Amino acid sequence: MTEEQLSSLLNDMTTKEKINQMIQLYGSFYEKGTSVVTGPISDTIGAMKLSEDEISQIGSALSVVGAKETKEMQRHYLEKQPHKIPLLFMADIINGYRTIIPIPIAQACSFNPEMVQNSAAMVAKESAVAGVHVTFSPVADLARDPRWGRVMETAGEDPYLNCVMTEAVVKGYQGENLLGKGSIAACIKHFAGYGAPVAGREYNNVELSERTLNEFYLPGYAAGIKAGAALVMTSFNTLDHIPSTGNQKLMKEILRQKMKFEGVLISDWNAIGEMIAFDFAEDEKEAAELAMKAGVDIDMMSSCYASSLEELIKEGIISNEELDESVIRILRLKNDLGLFENPYKDADEELEEKIILCDDHRILAKEAAKETFVLLKNEGILPLDENNSETIYIGPYVNATNTNGNWAIFGQEEDTVTLRKGILNVTGNPSIPFYEGCSMLNPDEYILDLNRRKSIGLSAEENARLIETAVSAAKTAKTVVLALGEHHGHSGEAGSRAIPELPDIQKKLFNSIYEVNQNIIVVLYSGRPLIITEIAKKAKAILQVWFPGTEGGNAVAEVLYGRTAPSGKLCMSFPYAVGQIPVFYNEHGVGRPQSGEHEERFYSCYLDIPNEPLYPFGYGLSYTEFSYGEGRLDKQSMKKGEKITASITVENIGQYEGKEIVQLYIHDCKASTVRPVKELKGFQKIALNPGEKRVVSFAITEEMLRFYTKNMLYASEPGEFEVMLGTDSTVTRKMIFRLN
Ligand code: BGC
Repeated sequence: MTEEQLSSLLNDMTTKEKINQMIQLYGSFYEKGTSVVTGPISDTIGAMKLSEDEISQIGSALSVVGAKETKEMQRHYLEKQPHKIPLLFMADIINGYRTIIPIPIAQACSFNPEMVQNSAAMVAKESAVAGVHVTFSPVADLARDPRWGRVMETAGEDPYLNCVMTEAVVKGYQGENLLGKGSIAACIKHFAGYGAPVAGREYNNVELSERTLNEFYLPGYAAGIKAGAALVMTSFNTLDHIPSTGNQKLMKEILRQKMKFEGVLISDWNAIGEMIAFDFAEDEKEAAELAMKAGVDIDMMSSCYASSLEELIKEGIISNEELDESVIRILRLKNDLGLFENPYKDADEELEEKIILCDDHRILAKEAAKETFVLLKNEGILPLDENNSETIYIGPYVNATNTNGNWAIFGQEEDTVTLRKGILNVTGNPSIPFYEGCSMLNPDEYILDLNRRKSIGLSAEENARLIETAVSAAKTAKTVVLALGEHHGHSGEAGSRAIPELPDIQKKLFNSIYEVNQNIIVVLYSGRPLIITEIAKKAKAILQVWFPGTEGGNAVAEVLYGRTAPSGKLCMSFPYAVGQIPVFYNEHGVGRPQSGEHEERFYSCYLDIPNEPLYPFGYGLSYTEFSYGEGRLDKQSMKKGEKITASITVENIGQYEGKEIVQLYIHDCKASTVRPVKELKGFQKIALNPGEKRVVSFAITEEMLRFYTKNMLYASEPGEFEVMLGTDSTVTRKMIFRLN
């Protein structure tokens, strides 16, 4: 449709019809629909009595997937929809529809935006044939606190990497344009600052200075919007003590005016209704008014717009212009997806059969997973030798079928290649022994995951038996691979943990094995950086594999046996102890920095632990070794509009082919506000054969030096800057240039 046709359609709609476009309900509200329920059903929406006729006009459905189901629902819907405005299907496709790729935090550890974009395109293809039009992804929330379970959905602690990854995911989903076959619309979430809940507690409030918000937290969302994301979702939290969903300044000044976002703004699940629980709105009517004034176009899963919008309009509290602004945005989105011409878009049962979980997708998922693993420690024990049959495998992740993470809500456990299967595939050796060792959860502990499936730990007696069997096998083994980790339900939404460590029973297993065999390689599954300080002292090697997805078993096996060297680096620091949290590399300088040289008291440090995390941002080993030459700047100064080239020679001086992530950090030596000790400004992932070397260069421009100055101008300030090129964020060797 042309813009004119859309306007005349809008003019033809009644107020009630318009409001209905602005409501989103989950599948079970519809005649034929069912769906995964990804949030609490509030009393008001549970009690909301909409007639069949009313439901037949609601503009979008949440979490309904499957070509057959969505097509049937669309057909029924259109039969009753007076203007033949198609229904929009939205769902949370976070790290895969059915072929599950690694969780987002793992993807970011690849530092490989091309791979991330291609993976998102594959995910979009599978979702599109299953009838999905919009995915609630990517999460662009910056995350510094691993107690917060949703760090698994983020790209970690660095704003630059967050921008790169967010952009890659949006481009992957949306392709050239939304009309394209296999494209789905992206929704940037959760606007804004949702990644910084106080004390890492889910749904808690956020305390950020305006400058920190602008410099660290907003760029990720802005990058997604610039990449063309069609939707943005409001966040549950407050910012400056105002709930985002009713925050006019945030949504109008920052999102619409400053970031120039023209797409659809959707609330998070019942976030409009929750303004009442905040004591910020008196009732549903006021909550609806506040959200409308902030320009929220779609009310997801609250009854506020349904119950109150008509009255607010009649009373003139909300104008017809305000209503129309929202509705036209929704109609435009439907039009951009081509739904008026083809309401079923790419939904196709035959293609579903053909492409979902096809070999190409599995291969892509496996290759993606291999790029995301981070080798945290290796005392020469990895890679394993395929011909050495004296390695045994122990741990609850040996046979685990859920290695998809908590948000892969449409993934099926039966599709998963377990670690055991992967080891068999790679070694071809059916006699390698595997032992469960203990349950994933502590004795009798239980947890509900996002699909509300319950897992329970085995009893203390059963665990004791499993540990005993494993210990007796470990006594005679040459090497023990311990596949440990937190349960997938320990992270994801509502997955905050005050003590983000391995479950005690798994620590017990580790220590029991360690007593009889010290050749331990830990393969670690988690949705967050866990605190593993004790284990890191004892294990000979640690391979962090996050939640690697459908092909996880094959990917882990190929890396353990050296078919591919690990090449991921941490996008989020691994704390040394809980008390350090939040610990991140790009902190601001302090007046009394710790100094190793003095035996003095009055420094910014802990008395009982180091200031540094156990493993820092940007860190990760390979099987091979890389040496760095002297860095070089081609000039010592530059003016606005010019650039300086920083380069360094990197050489593979080890025995294996490998990939290195070369990182560029900059520090502003003096500024009108205190600046971070260093900031990532560029990276390149390069592949080198043994003996091969390459000069890696980065262009430094004035734009890269901008920040929010004392007067809140986004600008650079003349002066000296330090440039650091190296293998991780602890790099210290500096070169200096001047910005004139
Ligand atoms: C989450 C969102 C999600 C939505 C719909 C909410 O609880 O915060 O990230 O997209 O549910 O499932």
